Amino acid sequence: MTGALAPAPASAEKPSPGALYTNGPSGRFLLDGGWYRRADAANVGQARGWQRSRSLRGWRTTTVPNAANAGDESRRSYIGGVWWYRKDFEAPAGAATDWVVRFESVNYRATVWLNGRRIGSHAGGYLPFEVPGRGLRRTGTNHLVVRVDSRRDESAVPPSGRRKDGRFVGGWWNYAGILREVYLRRVDTIDLVNVHVFPRRSCDTCPAKVYVRAVAANLQGIPVDAGLTGTVGGHKIEFRRATISGRGFHLFRGSATIENPHLWSPTDPHLYTVKLEVEHGGGVVQQYTQRTGIRILQVDDSGRMLLNGKHLALRGASMHEEDPTHGAALGPAEITANLNLLRDLGANMTRSHYPLHPLALELADKYGILVWSEVPVYQMRDALFRRSTVRRDALDMVRDMVNRDRSHPSVIVWSLGNENTSKPGVGFTRYLREATRITRRLDPTRLVGLAFPGYPTVGKQEVYTTLDALGVNDYFGWYPGPQNSIADRATLSPYLDRLHDDYSKQALFVTEFGAEANRAGPATEKGTWDFQADFLNYHLGVFAQKPYLNGALVWILRDFRVKPGYDGGNPQPQAPYNQKGLVDATGSPKPAFESVKRLFRKEAGLP
Ligand code: GCU
Repeated sequence: MTGALAPAPASAEKPSPGALYTNGPSGRFLLDGGWYRRADAANVGQARGWQRSRSLRGWRTTTVPNAANAGDESRRSYIGGVWWYRKDFEAPAGAATDWVVRFESVNYRATVWLNGRRIGSHAGGYLPFEVPGRGLRRTGTNHLVVRVDSRRDESAVPPSGRRKDGRFVGGWWNYAGILREVYLRRVDTIDLVNVHVFPRRSCDTCPAKVYVRAVAANLQGIPVDAGLTGTVGGHKIEFRRATISGRGFHLFRGSATIENPHLWSPTDPHLYTVKLEVEHGGGVVQQYTQRTGIRILQVDDSGRMLLNGKHLALRGASMHEEDPTHGAALGPAEITANLNLLRDLGANMTRSHYPLHPLALELADKYGILVWSEVPVYQMRDALFRRSTVRRDALDMVRDMVNRDRSHPSVIVWSLGNENTSKPGVGFTRYLREATRITRRLDPTRLVGLAFPGYPTVGKQEVYTTLDALGVNDYFGWYPGPQNSIADRATLSPYLDRLHDDYSKQALFVTEFGAEANRAGPATEKGTWDFQADFLNYHLGVFAQKPYLNGALVWILRDFRVKPGYDGGNPQPQAPYNQKGLVDATGSPKPAFESVKRLFRKEAGLP
């Protein structure tokens, strides 16, 4: 909560040991507690030296994560602006050769200073970045200052803001700020900068092999000797010792065989714990924990995705990580509430337009909820992808998403974007090809996918046959679509059959289907609760007839903010809200929640 003007500084707090989620390295300290924030409408902060001044005049108290414009539905809030954040803290006790500052998500551009020294910058939300904590004081007060610029132009990924014709661009509210938590990481000489755990199993009765690929960075200028030891579910993993060159990296490779693996699946989400220890100079300098699961994904010749050899009819809802109070800066309680709501709905799959918070993925692993993981490459036209800077930024997001999340059993699809140009031209095709190559190199064990709008007016797109999974956004009977082509919901069934014919080897999913609902009224009237329940019931009925369909996701779990003047196809909208949720923005269920729940349970063969 942002409040009063900052009082005179008391003694600085120490960060709290630990993290809000389990997976990752030891030595993390949460930079929680009191922060300061100030707006910079005139964008003068840097010139005024806010990055190094100790004075707290003009700063207000706040906490992080924080969305600076939560609750502000003005157009200015949506367009974006500049805010400054500051954290004064004392270094944690204990030896360290190096410190790292880790941001889990900042929207959109961040510039970071520590004790007046610029230590790094980053562009793009929903994915983490780290900067070296150079100049951190061992004693006394440290000042971490972050300038956050949420203004986006059309080359941002995704674009936001306002077109020349005054219309607003974007699919969800442009929340500004440090939207996920911040960590200080203590490192002693060697840092495991990336750990990838993946299972292999050559037949249904064979033992499973769990492979670990761990990239170790030597933060010293001189070569160091290092060892890595590990276990998975108590099974020993052997790694060869290595000498890592000064400021160099080394890829440790190891594996363990598990005779009778307890497989991970939505109905039995069994997790194994991988424990790693980095040894240097006769001592353990870092530990690393990764909870993971053994499951095998395949797509058969008729486009059916098999999990551990079985075809599953996946059902669920997509979500945005936001609510009216916190904006997009949800804490562990709100993130957990979303996953509990999915579980209560009887969902075994979910999706978002951007990589979810690490805690959400850990809960999905634990609850057995599969995840269509997507980069926020959203509704961008082909010409934008012809710009190397746009393609570079989008590809960086793909790389970061896969690197961050490729050890989660729940993640099944890497989606390269949503509703970009329906007919990929030179630009988008190039992006798709490069992104597919990068994704398959980093992780050959999951499906590479894409979500697109379901329009019968759009023919087969050759580049889609290079993907593994296709997600169609189905608004038949809600939006008119091009030339009114989707106004009649009866055209949905033949359209899905045509898609399957066009892409017979790709795993087909319905990544969105939904209707706005914000009032009582007849089921024939768009925007009523009964219309929504009937719409969802009808679509789920059609999906139940499609044995080739691998999954279907309601758009959306909870109502969310989009942009000024948004209507979502509802004749009586309540801008800026998208009200296709099964629960409203405050979490109150709509009638469709129960009816969809009944259908999901029926589909899953549950009472
Ligand atoms: C699109 C889009 C969503 C949007 C939805 C809607 O398909 O992917 O981000 O919210 O339609 O119109 O409700």
